Amino acid sequence: MRLRNRIFSTYLVVSFVLVAVVGALLYRAAIDAARVGFEDRLATTVQILAVELGRTSTPAEESELDVYIDALARAAAARVTIVAPDGHVAADSEFDGPELAALDNHNSRAEVIAARRLGTGESTRYSRSLGTDLVYRANTIDAGPWAGSVARVAIPRTRIQAAQSNARRRLLGALALALALAGVTGALWARRLSLPIKGLKEAAEQVRDGQLEARVDIRTGDEIEELAQALDGARNQLASRIQNANSERDQLEAVLDGMVEGVMVTDANGTIVIANPALRTLFGLESPAVGHTVIAAIRQPAVAAIMEETAARNTVMSREITITYPMDRIIALYATKLSTGGAAGVFHDVTALKRTDAVRRDFVANVSHELQTPLATLSAHAESLAGADLKSSQAKESLAAIQRQVGRLSALVADLLELSRIESDGFEPVWTAVDVNALVNDLASEWEPRAGESVQGLTVESEPELVVAGDRRLLRQAVVNLLENAIKYAGEAAHIRLIARRVNGDAQIEVADTGRGIPIEDQSRLFERFYRVEKGRARVAGGTGLGLSIVKHVAEVHGGSVVVESTPGAGAKFVITIPTSQTGPKPGESS
Ligand SMILES: Nc1ncnc2c1ncn2[C@@H]1O[C@H](COP(=O)(O)OP(=O)(O)OP(=O)(O)O)[C@@H](O)[C@H]1O
Ligand SMILES: [Mg+2]
Repeated sequence: MRLRNRIFSTYLVVSFVLVAVVGALLYRAAIDAARVGFEDRLATTVQILAVELGRTSTPAEESELDVYIDALARAAAARVTIVAPDGHVAADSEFDGPELAALDNHNSRAEVIAARRLGTGESTRYSRSLGTDLVYRANTIDAGPWAGSVARVAIPRTRIQAAQSNARRRLLGALALALALAGVTGALWARRLSLPIKGLKEAAEQVRDGQLEARVDIRTGDEIEELAQALDGARNQLASRIQNANSERDQLEAVLDGMVEGVMVTDANGTIVIANPALRTLFGLESPAVGHTVIAAIRQPAVAAIMEETAARNTVMSREITITYPMDRIIALYATKLSTGGAAGVFHDVTALKRTDAVRRDFVANVSHELQTPLATLSAHAESLAGADLKSSQAKESLAAIQRQVGRLSALVADLLELSRIESDGFEPVWTAVDVNALVNDLASEWEPRAGESVQGLTVESEPELVVAGDRRLLRQAVVNLLENAIKYAGEAAHIRLIARRVNGDAQIEVADTGRGIPIEDQSRLFERFYRVEKGRARVAGGTGLGLSIVKHVAEVHGGSVVVESTPGAGAKFVITIPTSQTGPKPGESS
């Protein structure tokens, strides 16, 4: 039911009940008033009549009296009867002559009996003389020629009833008018109350439909006006929030449109919600991918899998994928889980970078390879010269210098070749079950003497039954490189610890020393090729800066990683982590 109708019907019901109660009370009062009015009039009339008839000038003759009574009755608009002391009717306004004489004795009439006893009496009954119900009122006449007689006045009861029904009609008319007025004022009132609420409803609908400029114009001066103002306030807030959100979205869109990298954002259902132009170009998409699943839009199962896995696991993922459509490309994909349950991916075209890298790798590999033979020849000749009996001490010194530098060059070429080999696309490690415990214990006993010469000593801590799937030679090489570094750079006062342990199901090999440590600013670049901290010292120590690069590659070939922790002046710690579940390199896995 509409509010307006509800207010109206409530108002109407209340008005009706009020009118009914008041009407019922008034009805009784009006009916009584009409009757009492008549009775009073009758009493007054009969009193006046009795006084009038008590005058000495009243005709003493019955025939004259009857004429006189007829005149008085017309004036009083009532039937007038004079009952003589013996009960016979001396005069009557309704009867004349023989009819009058034929009337029976009236002393038995109730009003007459009462009048004779109390001076006045009344009665209501059927008049056989007139054939109708009459209301009678009688008074005794106290003086004049008719002293001792009774004067009686009567009017038909229908006149009282007519007056009563007249009063009733007027009352009902007034009540009906009151009800009609209540109806009209109720309708106006309901309209007045419901109009502002209708206005509010329309305003709320406008907000729902996104019309945020309009204002609610309600001036009722009450809570409804306050509500309208609150609604306006809320609408303003909403408008400014939407404006902010829009400008933020525009900014974001501008940034995304201007980016060289492809950007894709998915929601919790795996549906694409953002795909920038660079992404569409990268994957040769004709339609905006938004609204589709990753596989439907991009048609690259690897991309779909990475985005899904990122969203499912709370991780950051970084992979390289190769695509053939619309062109052969290598793409680096960095994906992050979002708090919305979806994932965000950044796609970077690294094809050119990879090509340059490949060219560099090939070049280094070729040069190193080509250097091997002349180096071997040089080394052989130096060897044979050393066997010869050199006379001059200068020649001996020169030969020693040649041998030293040939040794360094050979070590460098060996390192470069090792690195090239591990880096090359076709490289396949020799997978076996490697007993890490045995590996570190062997190395420790092998390196103990050298450690004893250069540093304070080498201790080993290891867990039994620590086995990983890996390439034994490569793992050994990595640990050797770390031990070599510690011995070379930690300083004489340092102590070295070689530790193998299991952490969260992965195997960890740690080489820690208590030496001089590594400056913070160098730590992030330590694993780059040819990077050395103190160039001079490293060169004197014979380092080329390839050792840690090889360690890093070995760790990655095993699906693991290597990290450095060092506080300058308080030692350095290198930790290689190898997943024990690893059975071979993960396809597409990269740094
Ligand atoms: N335990 C360590 N304490 C202090 N500095 C270190 C330690 N390990 C490595 N470094 C520093 O890191 C640099 C890089 O080491 P890396 O093993 O890669 O090269 P290198 O030892 O100089 O040469 P290479 O190992 O190829 O013979 C070293 O030159 C050295 O300055
Ligand atoms: Mg080294």
